[in-house]
Amino acid sequence: MTLRLGDTAPNFQQQSSEGIIDFYEFLGDSWGILFSHPADYTPVCTTELGYTAKLKDEFERRGVKAIALSVDDVESHKGWINDINETQNTTVNFPIIADQDRKVSELYGFLHPNASETTTVRSLVIIDPNKKVRLIITYPASTGRNFNEILRVVDSLQLTDNHKVATPANWQQGEDVVIVPSLQDETELKERFPKGYKAVKPYLRLTPQPDKD
Ligand code: BEZ
Repeated sequence: MTLRLGDTAPNFQQQSSEGIIDFYEFLGDSWGILFSHPADYTPVCTTELGYTAKLKDEFERRGVKAIALSVDDVESHKGWINDINETQNTTVNFPIIADQDRKVSELYGFLHPNASETTTVRSLVIIDPNKKVRLIITYPASTGRNFNEILRVVDSLQLTDNHKVATPANWQQGEDVVIVPSLQDETELKERFPKGYKAVKPYLRLTPQPDKD
């Protein structure tokens, strides 16, 4: 199956390091980050999962639940989690799906046979509270993902949903944002952006980040 932006993220039930997971039940009304990695006991993945565990407070602040996946089994995951905790100086605080039968990997397109015949690729999907897919990325096995960038994307998506703004290139928290082109009503513009905005071009309107003082 090819998953695309805007699709409904498919539900599934699968074994994990924390018991059987029903994905929708796990997500509840939260945002979700589902990320696959090639295999347990590999160096890059060890650092990625350790770093993700350290972002617990950042995920909670944004209403995001993280869940990892590989095609290794539960016992392997449990042993590896001990290694992650030890070497990355953290405590893994999210489930790792044990997708031995590749059911979830098939559903989410995490198998790229021309890259690897046996393991999942390094993909990540952001899912919103309506269960819509909002971001899909796939990295090479040898490149660890930038999880600060994932947080930045969540911030951007939440700003768009809540305030009708988008974020420009390399945007960081606190910097100006752009008003979505579809918003043209003068009354709504005044209500939403009391600090005003600068129209560099009619289609490029900059305004201070709305949820900052
Ligand atoms: C890994 O840690 O997953 C990895 C490291 C080097 C090459 C490919 C994968």
